[in-house]
Amino acid sequence: MIKNIAIDGLSGAGKSTVAKEVARELGYVYVDTGSMYRGVALYLIERKIDYKKEKNVINALKNIKIDLEYVNGEQQVILNGKNVSTDVRNEKVGIVTSKYVAVINEVREFLVEIQKELGKKKSIVMDGRDIGSVVLKDAFLKIYLDATPEARAKRRYKEILGKKTDVKYEEVIEDIKRRDYTDTTRKHSPLIRCDDAVYIDSSNMNIEEVVEEIIKIYKEREK
Ligand code: DC
Repeated sequence: MIKNIAIDGLSGAGKSTVAKEVARELGYVYVDTGSMYRGVALYLIERKIDYKKEKNVINALKNIKIDLEYVNGEQQVILNGKNVSTDVRNEKVGIVTSKYVAVINEVREFLVEIQKELGKKKSIVMDGRDIGSVVLKDAFLKIYLDATPEARAKRRYKEILGKKTDVKYEEVIEDIKRRDYTDTTRKHSPLIRCDDAVYIDSSNMNIEEVVEEIIKIYKEREK
């Protein structure tokens, strides 16, 4: 029996790390939907397509094929046959995705169709913004993972510091707040907290504690 887990929440709430670990513990496949939206943005950037014009983005969809593959259990994003898993993590790609790609209904319909199919084949742990509300409406378990902007910015700041030193905390928190605003106020499938989702505030929890909590809720529900 398929028992999908949907994890939604704002940027930086720790969804992907948590989802990946929960999937590993349960032997499920992890699906990161953000990277699919990022794949579309990367295509537009690489082809120098003016993504500020909605019709250009919609037109480009017919030339885009996004596939997911797994190497040692790690999800790989394949854009038109090329592995772009590292390229999609770029800061600029994240900003373009949030502001110009994820807001377009046609893009969402294109990717949601692929995501819904994945949820029918085997049990998955899927994270994103509209998973509980649109993609996996009948998920066995829905989690809304939250954390204060400050807690999320601190984590993000630490993460960026590991890669480069010229980063300001103030800029990181501003970026987080800007992204929160676009992701929660957009017209199509904004991030919402579903009534049937279990709410977890991870501001004062570490990854292991959040994973443990989700597994506990999952096992209780299985009884
Ligand atoms: O989770 P992430 O940072 O990789 O997501 C990148 C952007 O894509 C972010 O602005 C939210 C958007 N997104 C979305 O609208 N719906 C999803 N299911 C996943 C991501």
